[in-house]
Amino acid sequence: MNLIEEKIKKLENKRVKWNISQETIEFIVNSLLFDKIKVLEIGTFNGYSALWFAKVADKVVSLEIDSERFNEAKENLKSVDNVELILGNALEEIDRLGEKFNVVLIDAMKSEYKKYLEKVLNVLDDDFMIFVDNTISHKEKMGDFFEYIESLNWLEWKETGLGDGLIVIKRKV
Ligand SMILES: C[S@@+](CC[C@H](N)C(=O)[O-])C[C@H]1O[C@@H](n2cnc3c(N)ncnc32)[C@H](O)[C@@H]1O
Repeated sequence: MNLIEEKIKKLENKRVKWNISQETIEFIVNSLLFDKIKVLEIGTFNGYSALWFAKVADKVVSLEIDSERFNEAKENLKSVDNVELILGNALEEIDRLGEKFNVVLIDAMKSEYKKYLEKVLNVLDDDFMIFVDNTISHKEKMGDFFEYIESLNWLEWKETGLGDGLIVIKRKV
């Protein structure tokens, strides 16, 4: 078992409700067929999903608003050099990133999902996949998010039904 797998196992053994389900994150990482994988994650928490991405990605940028959780993730991701953790509000930080991503995971404050998506649309490569967690468990808090994706007719999206609900959004072909 390599370093990242050991770290994932450690967090898996003390999994909490906020962590994305294992089934969901495994599905996500197995769906990524890009040559170079550049991930933007909104909502680091303790770094569990960032570690999964670190296994397959060239680079991961993960945003966390809470300094205690940011520090916990920093500890959990020690010696993992393809993950950059940023402490700050995603709604401000995304505009400052100055780089493009082909994979995005939205997994932060459910009532802000529409706003995250608006920002994310400005930092995407031509070919991309956006994953949105908790789309069944917290659907009632996401009314404006669903209206928004419906209004973007250049995108297609699908509810996979995995874990707490997982939507995949892509460019319409
Ligand atoms: C459900 S947890 C993320 C779980 C993580 N992806 C995992 O699987 O372990 C949501 C996290 O989003 C963070 N968060 C909430 N609003 C945020 C914002 N505006 N910008 C960045 N992080 C935010 C919370 O502090 C919390 O740690």
